[in-house]
Amino acid sequence: MLKINNIDVYYGAIHALKDVSITVNQGEIVTLIGSNGAGKSTLLKTLSGLLKPKNGEIVFLGKTITGISAQSIVSEGLIHCPEGRRVFANMSVEENLELGAYIRKDKEIKADIGKVYERFPRLLERRNQQSGTLSGGEQQMLAIGRALMARPKLLLLDEPSMGLAPLLVQEIFAIIEEINCLGTTVLLVEQNANQALKIAHRAYVLETGKIALTGDAKELAGSEEVKKSYLGGH
Ligand SMILES: Nc1ncnc2c1ncn2[C@@H]1O[C@H](COP(=O)(O)OP(=O)(O)OP(=O)(O)O)[C@@H](O)[C@H]1O
Ligand SMILES: [Mg+2]
Repeated sequence: MLKINNIDVYYGAIHALKDVSITVNQGEIVTLIGSNGAGKSTLLKTLSGLLKPKNGEIVFLGKTITGISAQSIVSEGLIHCPEGRRVFANMSVEENLELGAYIRKDKEIKADIGKVYERFPRLLERRNQQSGTLSGGEQQMLAIGRALMARPKLLLLDEPSMGLAPLLVQEIFAIIEEINCLGTTVLLVEQNANQALKIAHRAYVLETGKIALTGDAKELAGSEEVKKSYLGGH
């Protein structure tokens, strides 16, 4: 479904992604783990057209999308749920959800908002609340809900569990699994490698801009190298 072939991404002189190649197959949850500053968010920003690779190519559903506009990438069904729960703080919950569907012209937008409320009942209770006043966890739910409103074929999630209490982390991971079971392919960036490897089919480990390891998520979770560096040595 997605093939990233040998991309290099720079911020000025900083070489943030070095010859990175990643494949995501239809139906999978693929997780990208790595330490702070490894380049995980850079990779997602490149996929969604916010950054342009200097070399290499990105192919999504058989079409080369390298260098096309962020809006065209959204229209192809590649939807980015960015790091840090970027909701529009001055708008209500419902307005944020409507904005998620801005590229759509079909008549099912209202019905899809209803589905988001079914998945996140707390958002329904707060549908008219200003989004900036939601709790951190609620904002994360809204950020995911808004991404779902674009009807993603491939959903890019950047650290959805960041800063959430353990119970809510479990809930968010369960929801990601559910979204995947309903047919959305997921590329999940996480610091919480432990949880991410539990729900993912395959994984890539990014180290200072390079892919250091890749493989079946269960196998990687059992590897000494991953345990030592990313799973707190347990
Ligand atoms: N706009 C920018 N200008 C210059 N350097 C940047 C910029 N954005 C990111 N970087 C650098 O690129 C590298 C990769 O950053 P990135 O945000 O992709 O890391 P990350 O893996 O997502 O880290 P974290 O887990 O902390 O979110 C870092 O060294 C960072 O300082
Ligand atoms: Mg990041």
